[in-house]
Amino acid sequence: MATQIPPTPPVTGVAVPELSPAEVERWRTTGRGMPELLRRVARLGPVAGVRLDGRPTVLVTGPEAVQHVLGRNPDRYVKRSHRGRILLGDGVLSASGEAWRAQRLLLQSQFTGSGMRRWEQRIAAAARHTAARWAEHADAGRTVDLREEMHRFALDTIWRSLTGHPLEDRTVTELTALEAVVAVLPVLPSNAEDARSAVAGELARIDAVVHGAIEAARSAPPGPHGPGLLHVLLSAAQDRPEYTDRLIRDEFVTLMVAGHETTATTLTWLYLFLAEDPSARARALAAGPAGSEERRTALRALVSETLRLYPSAWLLPRHAVEEDLLTGFRIEAGSEVLVCPYLVHRDPELWPEPEVFDPRRFTVPGLRPADPGAYLPFGIGARACLGLQFALRETVALLELLLPSFEAVPAGPAPEPSFGMVVRPGRPVPAVLTRTG
Ligand code: HEM
Repeated sequence: MATQIPPTPPVTGVAVPELSPAEVERWRTTGRGMPELLRRVARLGPVAGVRLDGRPTVLVTGPEAVQHVLGRNPDRYVKRSHRGRILLGDGVLSASGEAWRAQRLLLQSQFTGSGMRRWEQRIAAAARHTAARWAEHADAGRTVDLREEMHRFALDTIWRSLTGHPLEDRTVTELTALEAVVAVLPVLPSNAEDARSAVAGELARIDAVVHGAIEAARSAPPGPHGPGLLHVLLSAAQDRPEYTDRLIRDEFVTLMVAGHETTATTLTWLYLFLAEDPSARARALAAGPAGSEERRTALRALVSETLRLYPSAWLLPRHAVEEDLLTGFRIEAGSEVLVCPYLVHRDPELWPEPEVFDPRRFTVPGLRPADPGAYLPFGIGARACLGLQFALRETVALLELLLPSFEAVPAGPAPEPSFGMVVRPGRPVPAVLTRTG
């Protein structure tokens, strides 16, 4: 918990708001009301204390404090995931210490530079597949669920990259279990055994899919795209005993979860913003001809601005392993620390008219704050997103194909956000597709 400390070095007091036990209970058991609750806490300052669920918790929403926690002191503020581990096991997202370092090193080479180039063809193939599906839907005059469409695309890209094979309809159906577990994770019982048994059926279905893919990668030649990330993990296992079947399963599930839910919700929000402001689509397409760097930059700005307003990973939890002085506040060892990109990105002191969707913030110099702690959709520092380049590549690749050719007009009012592990539209997003080019 953050408390005021004596005057040297200079400090500011930290206020602790009164939250009714009923409010906290509502959030704890249903996951609802959390952002409003945090917004009230954040009004008290860039670092504010609150007792959540009986534990001292510190909410961080100031750029300097963000940098301190995530960028400069990752060993003092560590990840200590509870519920996530039920699904992700010891995968790189939830691992810590030396094990995490070694796992990260292996994967990092796959997601940067020449490693990244190996996935580009798969991303392009998944984007083409989606565009072909949209052409069929548009010609048949069908209404589609944008949320489902974007999920399918993002799952297809990561599946092709992992296994070397396109995603089949059967696998899509089986993997609905993945989304079901992700959706309920924040409200599962805190006792690991109870939580696991609450989703035992779904976990078994996920494991069956993953073990099937691992066996196929072991016994059959690589698919049409060549070897995938799964083959990288399997060859690591040949001389590194820590890569057991269990750890390979955990990395596989981690990459599927981290790599598709985030991208899918970003693309869905992006289409909702474009529906409200069609001029943003027109400006992006007018920035340059198809395939030009100018157009790509403009499309990337659409993605960046969407991620400002809805950073999929909207809350980054950490555990303070030792006492610390955080921009003037004493943090007790054992405190839970919540870094909140969602509130940082909507701070009017940092972002003028923060609620307005304006992609020019990312193309016109001087329109976004220079402080690196003011924009963190992919996190900051040692634990920042491994898939940043992958995510930008896949979102832009899809927009390059879809935006010039189709218009998607959502039926009905924009959905309210639902704040779980990621911030996603709280209900399906039906939209009518028409061809424009
Ligand atoms: C728009 C899309 C994405 C967003 C907004 C996003 C966001 C993030 C954020 C904020 C973190 C840091 C979490 C923390 O500090 O607690 C993270 C970590 C991670 N992301 Fe992403 N991500 C995206 C896409 C992807 C993709 C496509 C992949 C894989 C292909 C991926 C793989 C990972 C992994 C493995 C980590 C854990 C890194 C570690 O702990 O060392 N992400 N992501």
